[in-house]
Order: sequence, then C-alpha cells, then structure tokens
Amino acid sequence: MSQEEMGRRALLVGAGCAALAMLGACGSRGEESPPGPKPGDVLAPTSGVPVGGGLLTQTGVLVLQLHEGQFTAYSAVCPHQSYLVRPPDSDGIMTCTGHQSKFRASDGVRVDGPALGNLVPVAVKVSGADVVRA
Ligand code: FES
Repeated sequence: MSQEEMGRRALLVGAGCAALAMLGACGSRGEESPPGPKPGDVLAPTSGVPVGGGLLTQTGVLVLQLHEGQFTAYSAVCPHQSYLVRPPDSDGIMTCTGHQSKFRASDGVRVDGPALGNLVPVAVKVSGADVVRA
C-alpha cells in the first residue's frame, strides 16, 4: 500500500470514527466515548437556538438555525484532533477551539485550518417545542 493510500485510509477511518463517536461506538486512546444522542433524543428547545446562529449541546452536537424555523446540526467533534467546534459567528463560520480550523455553517465544509475533513452532519427534526435527533 502506498503512502498516499495509507493517508487516505487513515482519513476515512478518522471520519468514520467522528461519525461513530456520535453514536457512542468509537473510542479514542482505548477509552470509550460518551454515548451520543440516539434517534428521538432531545437536543435543545427550539427557543434555545438563536436565529442565524447555533447552540453547542452537552452531547457534542452543534444545533443551528440559520433561517428561522429551519434547524440543521453537525457533530461538534473536529475531524482534526477531536476538539469541539464553536457555533457560527456572524459570518456563518464555525471555528474549532483546538487549532482554529474553520467550517461553513451552511454545509459544514472546512474552509481553513489543519482539519482535512468536514463536520459530520447529524439528522434532526422538530418535535413539539424541541429539536430532536431524527
Ligand atoms: S482539533 Fe480542530 S483544528 Fe485541531
């Protein structure tokens, strides 16, 4: 296997772990990750998510309301070294607390910094007055 193939494979494994960490299925350094939200779990009250911004939940999910009544979410776990990413600023950019990688709030795509991947989307829906994991 070439060096490039090994790097690509490591990247895919890392991205997979970030996604699986949301489900509590992937550990780091031999430790078990805290369980992520399961379908139906309440992430935040809709009233707690600012329009044009977002909220970082205790389960490591960034819940966003970029347009009134439209909720989206990403894992806040940075694909670089797993620090948490902050909710979007007024320019719609979410910045990692670790090494300042930057991601677009509109689609989670990395726009700057050492992270090589994008943020992992989390499916959400509104149920009553809450945003829940779909
Ligand atoms: S952990 Fe996010 S940029 Fe390093």
